[in-house]
Amino acid sequence: MCGIVAYVGDKQAAPIIIKGLKRLEYRGYDSAGIALLNGKLNVYKKQGKVADLEQVLDGKTLNSTIGIGHTRWATHGEPNDVNAHPHYSGSKNLALIHNGIIENYESLKKELISRGHTFDSDTDSEVLIHLIEDIRDNNDCTLGRAVRLAMQQVIGAYAIVVMDKDAPSQLIAARKGSPLVIGVGKGEFFLASDATPIIEYTNEVVYLDDYEIAVINEGELEVKSHKDVPKTPYIQTLEMELESIEKGGYEHFMLKEIFEQSRSIGDCLRGRIYPKDALIKLGGLRKHGNTIANANRIIIVACGTSWHAGLVAEYIFEELARIPVEVEYASEFRYRNPIINEGDVVFAISQSGETADTLAALELAKKKGAHIYGVCNVVGSSIARLTDAGVYTHAGPEIGVASTKAFTAQVTVLTLIALMIAKKRNSLSDEAIKELSRELESVPEKVAIALENAAEIEKISAVYKDAKNFLYLGRGYNFPVALEGALKLKEISYIHAEGYPAAEMKHGPIALIDEEMPVVVIATRDSSYDKVVSNIQEVKARKGKIIAVVTKGDALIPSMADHVIEVPDTHPVLMPLVSVIPLQFLSYYIAVMRGCNVDQPRNLAKSVTVE
Ligand code: G6P
Repeated sequence: MCGIVAYVGDKQAAPIIIKGLKRLEYRGYDSAGIALLNGKLNVYKKQGKVADLEQVLDGKTLNSTIGIGHTRWATHGEPNDVNAHPHYSGSKNLALIHNGIIENYESLKKELISRGHTFDSDTDSEVLIHLIEDIRDNNDCTLGRAVRLAMQQVIGAYAIVVMDKDAPSQLIAARKGSPLVIGVGKGEFFLASDATPIIEYTNEVVYLDDYEIAVINEGELEVKSHKDVPKTPYIQTLEMELESIEKGGYEHFMLKEIFEQSRSIGDCLRGRIYPKDALIKLGGLRKHGNTIANANRIIIVACGTSWHAGLVAEYIFEELARIPVEVEYASEFRYRNPIINEGDVVFAISQSGETADTLAALELAKKKGAHIYGVCNVVGSSIARLTDAGVYTHAGPEIGVASTKAFTAQVTVLTLIALMIAKKRNSLSDEAIKELSRELESVPEKVAIALENAAEIEKISAVYKDAKNFLYLGRGYNFPVALEGALKLKEISYIHAEGYPAAEMKHGPIALIDEEMPVVVIATRDSSYDKVVSNIQEVKARKGKIIAVVTKGDALIPSMADHVIEVPDTHPVLMPLVSVIPLQFLSYYIAVMRGCNVDQPRNLAKSVTVE
């Protein structure tokens, strides 16, 4: 939520920052801005996309080797030019970009107004830069110290970068609760909300921790705690490839990411699964296997698509490892005084590793004494660093706001964890583990076959692109898939859609069914197949239109359904990895046909770093 980029070095800052903002645009895209130092401290900002900001910059002399930039997802104050970042201080000598929410901004603002400050915008962020300047002026101190003292007064979440008109080679950054990465180049530094704007210049990065302040000046990086204790910056080398964050010939990131899934599931399995020996090796959990296997119960906290992966995991963990599992929306969990007993294990699932509610739910669980683990995609993310241990999904950067390859990678990792625990608990025989492991190894190939249905699903999408509502039904392992299919459609095509356990349809949604209602039924072969067939008949009896996802070779459902999409057969536990693929395509093609911005759907952000 909100993307920040900054640069200081010997290159021109504007092109680096604009390119970086485009890479971060998935985090927010209602307005964008940049501050550059060109004799004066110039701030340019504009409601709309980064492309709209580029038009504002067109023809201007932007000669500056230092700058800060921002792409916004509005929280306080509507999206407009004034509320866009960067924000000036009162004297216009300082400028700031901010990602996060300042919870006590009203009281800080009141205090500053009483001291003569006036504000241009409705944002919480503008208060920060006034506060910093006020402290600097009244204490006659360095900007670094002023930032530090200001942040001590702030309640909320922030990643900020500040620049000063009189310090042409200085940037000051601080973080609490919102991510900030510093790229370390040769005599140059890059700061950003994630590594994607940095990676084409350097793969050496420092992740700033909560309550840390970085001062970059004259080519030197100094990190201190907000209590002024010096820290040694830990420089990590990232393995991310530039091409993994580019569209690579696809029209949209989402389409590219859907097609990547055969590869990404393979990457996720590599080196972790040994069917011959009934062995699962998860390096991240090496020392924690027994703790998890001995847990009285497992609680999974997540949001959005990751929550759906958690729901699949509940079914898998309970079936394979025989441990009770509860899946919670992180936002509910953290505010309802949950009971956590000693020995409870809490897993957070998060693509970004930065979702504010998931992070806070984990912090709460940790405080209450739970063992906390993460399943994250983004290496070095806040959740990955907070947890006792965890497993990375290795799906590669996911840029499309609607999650696709992260979901299948999460389900893959969670299946591996379930198998690992099952072995430790003896809840599955070695034979059963071998069989499931072999089947899991064949999933990338089966996903590749499911991906071949794209053109056929595009045709079905054309028939239903103008529908007002959609219903998605599934049972067992395919129930969370129904939820995920409905979420995908809502997110990117703005068609109202609901996912339901197929049997629950009779208790409500059936009243909605008429000839206008497309019903997507995930009806692959498993123990509830016959029941799902009955549910299809119930829909047909009320003239609903059936789009059925079936196992290859199904001879019955094609005679009832209006459209049939075949997927390869696999073990029911693994079916979500395959059956979700057609639903991703359906939402994608419908959204494209409706002229929607697939990669940047309205009102959404990829990384929800505010609660
Ligand atoms: C946002 C995104 C979703 C994502 C959810 C959780 O809503 O738009 O795609 O599933 O956040 O994100 P996380 O990074 O924690 O998986």
